[in-house]
Amino acid sequence: MRRLGDDITLADLELDPDPIMARLRADEPVCWVPALEMWLVTRWDDVAFMEAHPELFSAATEPSLLARALGPNMLTCDPPEHTRLQQIMQPPFQPGGRSGSFVSDELASIADTLLDTVDPAGFDLMADYAQLLSAGALATVLGLDHHGYDQMWEWCTGLCADIANFGNDPKLAQAGEIAKASLGEAITRRIADSAVDDTAISWFVRDGATPEEIVNNVRLMISGGINEPRDGIGLVIHVVLSRPDLRSEIEASPAKLRRLIEEVFRVYTPVGTVTRQATRDLELAGVSIRQGDLVSGVLRSVNLDETHWTDPTEIDLDRREGSHAAFALGAHRCLGEWLGRQEVRVGVERILARFPELRMADGADVEIRGFEFRGPRAMFVTTSPSP
Ligand code: HEM
Repeated sequence: MRRLGDDITLADLELDPDPIMARLRADEPVCWVPALEMWLVTRWDDVAFMEAHPELFSAATEPSLLARALGPNMLTCDPPEHTRLQQIMQPPFQPGGRSGSFVSDELASIADTLLDTVDPAGFDLMADYAQLLSAGALATVLGLDHHGYDQMWEWCTGLCADIANFGNDPKLAQAGEIAKASLGEAITRRIADSAVDDTAISWFVRDGATPEEIVNNVRLMISGGINEPRDGIGLVIHVVLSRPDLRSEIEASPAKLRRLIEEVFRVYTPVGTVTRQATRDLELAGVSIRQGDLVSGVLRSVNLDETHWTDPTEIDLDRREGSHAAFALGAHRCLGEWLGRQEVRVGVERILARFPELRMADGADVEIRGFEFRGPRAMFVTTSPSP
């Protein structure tokens, strides 16, 4: 018998996963997809169960593109090893660590400096602003800002090319190797001279992480911690510019921007999945899964699950239904969650304050693509009045 998963292709998922996910939630919520060689799990309760049971659904998958591209890191291991790394790596990303002072004292001025350089008549909000702001923020918190924001972005794209290298393309593998090696050298130099300051890398050294742990986990942070706030800024601005009703609501009541950001994270879910491996034969929602099978919890789907949310596709600034899953739900919940949220908030606040007339450039269309990582590729905007 043909199953729903037999007809699912990566190309369709990249283009528009939402209708596919809606069908899976309704008819086959735990579904084997031959094109991906993994199970897709699409309902909130089942993904919450996966996330609560790392002993059944391990992050130490075999094979692991993540471990190959970055070296073994906190996202490729389980508790208790994971817990130890999390305890070392988390403090600089909390409000009481380097991220807190950075957000209160420096983030807005980085945003303003970047906005000084854009051409108000027309610019690409993603490449000229959101990407550089995200790169600059993470570089500063880590203590790698002396390399420049463009270099951070280059490392990020090189690593990500290899992480998503499902077809083993040698060119992507080479780009990944180059980024991995050059970033590894930069981190190693930083470890050697990180005497006394409050940057994250100095913190990791003082808190007893080995050089290899620091190198691999900083690679992980750079591969995930730049694209996501960048996409978050782009998605929130896209919604503000295309929904005059929501724009008026946050203009009238600026505190509602935080709610808008959460709703955009929920509805668009920039990181699509959490991928794990079954540690033994088991059943999930009545479906038999074999030991060793890869199982992907689809965060984008659970954030739109009709059994969990009222009118899930609506952006509702008065929604009171608990937190969403865009930063995941379990042991590997995003390490940079607090910092990432602040980057999106300050990034959006500063650009709207500087350019209150910001609008999409004439004829510009925003293409939002991706399954694993979903966001606008480019966003051409202008601040000149409509013709
Ligand atoms: C603001 C947008 C962001 C979103 C939507 C996001 C989303 C996520 C998600 C869904 C995970 C879980 C992945 C999994 O379990 O497979 C994760 C993990 C992670 N994120 Fe983020 N992230 C964001 C920003 C950041 C930033 C700014 C950093 C910078 C340090 C960061 C660093 C990490 C790390 C290191 C992990 C692995 C945590 C662990 O294994 O315990 N993220 N993120």
